[in-house]
Amino acid sequence: MPARTRTRDNRLDIHLRPEELRETLRRDVRAGLTATPKTLPSKYFYDARGSALFVDITRLPEYYPTRAEAAILARHADEIAAVSGADWLVELGSGASEKTRRLLHALEAGAGLRGYVPFDVSAAALTEAMDALAQEFPGLEQHGVVGDFERHLPALPHPPRGGTRMVAFLGSTIGNLDPGERARFLDDLRGGLAAGDTLLLGTDLVKDTGRLVAAYDDAAGVTAEFNRNVLHVLRRELGADVDPADFEHVAVWNAADRWIEMRLRARRDLEVRVADLGLAVRFAAGEEVRTEISAKFGREQVRAELAAAGYTPLRQWTDPDGDFALTLARLDQA
Ligand code: SAH
Ligand code: AVI
Repeated sequence: MPARTRTRDNRLDIHLRPEELRETLRRDVRAGLTATPKTLPSKYFYDARGSALFVDITRLPEYYPTRAEAAILARHADEIAAVSGADWLVELGSGASEKTRRLLHALEAGAGLRGYVPFDVSAAALTEAMDALAQEFPGLEQHGVVGDFERHLPALPHPPRGGTRMVAFLGSTIGNLDPGERARFLDDLRGGLAAGDTLLLGTDLVKDTGRLVAAYDDAAGVTAEFNRNVLHVLRRELGADVDPADFEHVAVWNAADRWIEMRLRARRDLEVRVADLGLAVRFAAGEEVRTEISAKFGREQVRAELAAAGYTPLRQWTDPDGDFALTLARLDQA
């Protein structure tokens, strides 16, 4: 059973306590830093500082996905709400819940909104967003979940007195999973849903390589700081003696896999001692750790992946520049 607490009138289910998050971090860091090539999972970017840095990224001139997705929502949120017929909004990887406001307003104006379920691995981002939404939507019932959408989806809360859910997975966060992980994620999600519930999926689309790379290597260096933040997390949580300045931010387009890779490249030969793991990790100068993939999609590819996972695509929208897609799909049979 998850632990439960309340913030104001809101409920918070904690599937991932700080000790458990640290335990999974220990496992993942040991596995990732002893592998060849070295990797670290991207979910560990998002402590309070990393979540704030991500919000800064969304405002950068080079980072178009947030603006493109917001433009689609500004134009089509009412239609999305009407087609979904939902009275509960669940949001996975909700972060600051900024774009969500459009959907909440549209659902309120439509069939009537009964509740919002933000779900995020970052307790800091989640509680801050819930407090802000409590001010802006005073009657809204909120049921936050601190959890990992790769582990805790089968336990997705059901609407207390029945109802229909729309699950929003925005920002192209699904692109931070590889194809096998995406298929597993969609399958797990199906297990947490009921027939008639819908999924609203945001996906960044393949485009000119120059624009893609610039979005992950901005001139102001905010993405570089976000990338190095995982090293700050390793210092604080695992007693690693790593100096983040010893690592250079790298963003490359992997054309074969159609994803951006973020990496951290050692500026010199060095050794990182991770005290809590009793582990010493050597890096040769120029050696890289892959910290994130961010897959880019074709419109038809998104519909095909959803259909293969048992969802029926209903409608798809893009922004005027064709940079980003939102796809609404229904689960006909749980
Ligand atoms: N949806 C927002 C935020 C995207 S940033 C937007 O579109 O702008 C990605 C969010 O997903 C972060 O808030 C991060 O904490 C969360 N996240 C990343 N990996 C996760 C995981 N495995 N389980 C749950 N949340 C995760
Ligand atoms: C959250 N996720 C979809 C972002 C992305 O674009 O892949 C994270 C990010 N990484 C670097 N910039 C933004």
